[in-house]
Amino acid sequence: MAYNLLKGKKGIIFGALNADSIAWKVAERAFEEGATFTLTNTSVALRMGETAKLAEKCGAELIAADATNVEDLENLVKKSMEVLGGKIDFILHSIGMSPNVRKGRHYSDLDYNYLDKTLDISAISFHKVLQVARKLDAINEWGSVVALSYVAAQRTFYGYNDMADAKALLESIGRSFGYIYGRERNVRINTVSQSPTVTTAGSGVKGIDKLLDFGERMSPLGNATGDECADYCITLFSDLTRKVTMQNLFHDGGFSSMGMSLRALEQYEKGLGCDCECGDAGDHDHRYD
Ligand SMILES: NC(=O)c1ccc[n+]([C@@H]2O[C@H](COP(=O)([O-])OP(=O)(O)OC[C@H]3O[C@@H](n4cnc5c(N)ncnc54)[C@H](O)[C@@H]3O)[C@@H](O)[C@H]2O)c1
Repeated sequence: MAYNLLKGKKGIIFGALNADSIAWKVAERAFEEGATFTLTNTSVALRMGETAKLAEKCGAELIAADATNVEDLENLVKKSMEVLGGKIDFILHSIGMSPNVRKGRHYSDLDYNYLDKTLDISAISFHKVLQVARKLDAINEWGSVVALSYVAAQRTFYGYNDMADAKALLESIGRSFGYIYGRERNVRINTVSQSPTVTTAGSGVKGIDKLLDFGERMSPLGNATGDECADYCITLFSDLTRKVTMQNLFHDGGFSSMGMSLRALEQYEKGLGCDCECGDAGDHDHRYD
């Protein structure tokens, strides 16, 4: 159901690769709610992915930009203001990638060049987007910027690797820049910490299927889907949340506040076997995973 929550609002949406992408779902909902926006991704992703289909559906212009490249971002923001006919009201940062995860490097044996890339793509790009937007005075008063995060920023999750460090930095940038942009121009900046979700990036997370099952059993409301995440982002772009800023907002069915649920406990009891924490009946040594 549409409520016209974003009627007349203009935005930039980063990170829609295919129909599974959280950004894709946010774009569809923003369109339904009356927003106009540009869509952006790397030129490789625009060639390989399906973003053009989404652009056609939403009447959005596609503008290639590597979010780690300041010149690309300046071009994106200037072009977006041209195409949309003025300053923008919202930005979605929905970007994540770790070469260490992709190449199977263990957290205790990181490649530091890869780590630089992980941090640049998944976190510092958020700072770059904000700095470019501020210098170009591209965001209207009471505008709203959202980046997507994950609870591995606060707690340790097996296999999330250096993306946990990237998410912690991302959330910190949201707070630090939120103070400056809020004080100066009433622009609000938040991160949304989403449940595990089956997407291209999500599938790179080690044991995503088990993580989804665990999240489902632990959360009183169950995992939040990508569509539900899109709904939540729309409320944050709307005028109904004008005093929410510098927050990391958990959108996870209650998972982050849980210690143990009955459903997870019952499942755990069924799986007892190995005497390390993995529950593997084969009794393999997993201490260093
Ligand atoms: N899927 C999950 O389980 C989950 C859970 C919590 C948070 N998130 C976060 O949601 C966000 C979106 O991920 P998703 O799950 O929709 O996966 P996705 O793979 O659909 O989206 C990731 C996007 O990042 C883009 N990207 C990578 N490098 C880039 C660069 N240099 N410049 C610009 N764009 C670049 C990719 O092209 C892709 O469109 C990420 O920040 C991710 O960490 C995902």
